[in-house]
Amino acid sequence: MKILIEKNKIDDTVKNLGTRISRDYADKNPVMVGVLKGAFMFMADLLRSIDIPCEVDFLSIQSYNGKSSSGVVRLLSDLTVDITGRHVILVEDIIDTGRTVTYILENLHTRKPESLAVCTLLDKQEARQVDIGLQYVGFTIPDVFVVGYGLDYDQNYRHLNYIGVLDGSESTA
Ligand code: IMP
Ligand code: MG
Repeated sequence: MKILIEKNKIDDTVKNLGTRISRDYADKNPVMVGVLKGAFMFMADLLRSIDIPCEVDFLSIQSYNGKSSSGVVRLLSDLTVDITGRHVILVEDIIDTGRTVTYILENLHTRKPESLAVCTLLDKQEARQVDIGLQYVGFTIPDVFVVGYGLDYDQNYRHLNYIGVLDGSESTA
């Protein structure tokens, strides 16, 4: 495993994102919507850096098999909060082609939120196939497959407290 982003760097960046969101959404009581499973760790740390009232919810989608984009996105479990008229911040682990987030945004739009923003920890800008506006980006990274800090390769490596690139030396045993 090659380390791409160390824990300390992640911590600093997540704190900064939390500070920006707290400033931008003061008095708006936003709904923070995490996309499972990948965003669970980012979401937990981001929330601890937010010092304004907010609500927390999750939705679960499936968009990937192994390392290649299937292009097919499925909603596995939906929100429990009604977001109509609310300020919503979608919290994602990574934006790659942009297909997944586009599907989610279109879905959430139909519920008529007051506003809808995206906060992603990682942005693989070079891999983008669909144009989308990202309001909060932690790190722009090259088009390599990364794991850790919530991100998986076939459900492994989510627990790592850093972002790494698989280099073939790993064993999942
Ligand atoms: P997109 O639809 O191509 O933007 O893919 C976004 C989703 O694919 C993310 O939410 C991740 O679940 C997954 N994904 C994309 N790139 C990576 C990666 O490098 N490592 C792990 N998962 C990834
Ligand atoms: Mg994801």
